Amino acid sequence: MQANTMPASDSGIACAAELMRAGGLVAFPTETVYGLGANATSDSAVAAIFEAKGRPHFNPLIVHVRDVKAAKAHVAFVPLAEELAREYWPGPLTLVLPRNADSKLSLLVSAGLDTVAVRSPAHPVARKLLLAAEVPIAAPSANRSGRVSATTAAHVVSDFGCRVDLVLDGGATELGLESTVIGFEKERAVLLRPGAVPRASIERVAGPLISPAASQVSSPGQLRSHYAPRTPLRLWAGTVEADEGLLAFGPRELAGAQMTCNLSPTGDLRQAAANLFAMLRQLDSACLRQIAVMPIPETGLGEAINDRLRRAAAPQGSE
Ligand code: TXA
Ligand code: MG
Repeated sequence: MQANTMPASDSGIACAAELMRAGGLVAFPTETVYGLGANATSDSAVAAIFEAKGRPHFNPLIVHVRDVKAAKAHVAFVPLAEELAREYWPGPLTLVLPRNADSKLSLLVSAGLDTVAVRSPAHPVARKLLLAAEVPIAAPSANRSGRVSATTAAHVVSDFGCRVDLVLDGGATELGLESTVIGFEKERAVLLRPGAVPRASIERVAGPLISPAASQVSSPGQLRSHYAPRTPLRLWAGTVEADEGLLAFGPRELAGAQMTCNLSPTGDLRQAAANLFAMLRQLDSACLRQIAVMPIPETGLGEAINDRLRRAAAPQGSE
């Protein structure tokens, strides 16, 4: 059976909002990737997200809100978080902040931590949905746990079928990489997950970022194997075999692959980010022995792209 997909028109969004208020699961586009959303104040709705994704219960969820004011009903902003929100919200930045004692959010979103990750998405469909649903929306990326993220409605349908109540189709997502996740320790920012806002942009506001390894802030979602296709991945390829697929980057594609997808023939990291998950899914569906990945520079968005690729290539089941 197919999932119930609707265009992200005003009537589609109204229907999604209704379903969400009733405790349903709704996949919707954000500017980064599709989210698998549910009412963040409902234990049973949040539990349904974990179940549909097959997500380990120790891995907390991002709560999507309209703006800083809405976030403040649930978390306490440190001054640096205010500055970052002023600069990057609405947008692809998630802030991990101490949970307010009187927050109505389900405790499940925090997975046992005393913090909540909050984000105000910029995508017009996500914003209209938040307005119409009138509840904060818990939403992880709309992929099965550990697998490749979804950047189109078709990806969501292929992962979940009728296990979601509705997929709002708003076309391909613009950025293609998840939000940057920032935690705070003694007034300094910790980079919990590189993402669509590059490190250098955050550092302009927050100063040098602390790495999670050097900090007390927990980042339970950073499993070594993640974003993984079923086909094995080989990084930093300098040659390619005839029974391999090639994930190329830049104008000088390696020759001889069984199938090639080029993340960006012009070597543009924004374009590469937008294409990454769709191309991994495309190569994964082609019955190849292995996927070889050409080197991608570690600069700008390259840090987040390489983070995803390293985890996609890690032995599966590794943490
Ligand atoms: O762009 C995005 O962030 C997308 C869209 C849908 O908003 N969402 C997303 O969610 O990527 P998810 O669940 O796939 O990744 C959320 C990340 C995980 O690594 C999780 O462990 C971390 O955020 N996270 C959530 N709450 C946290 C918390 N309280 N403390 C530390 N990390 C947290
Ligand atoms: Mg995810």
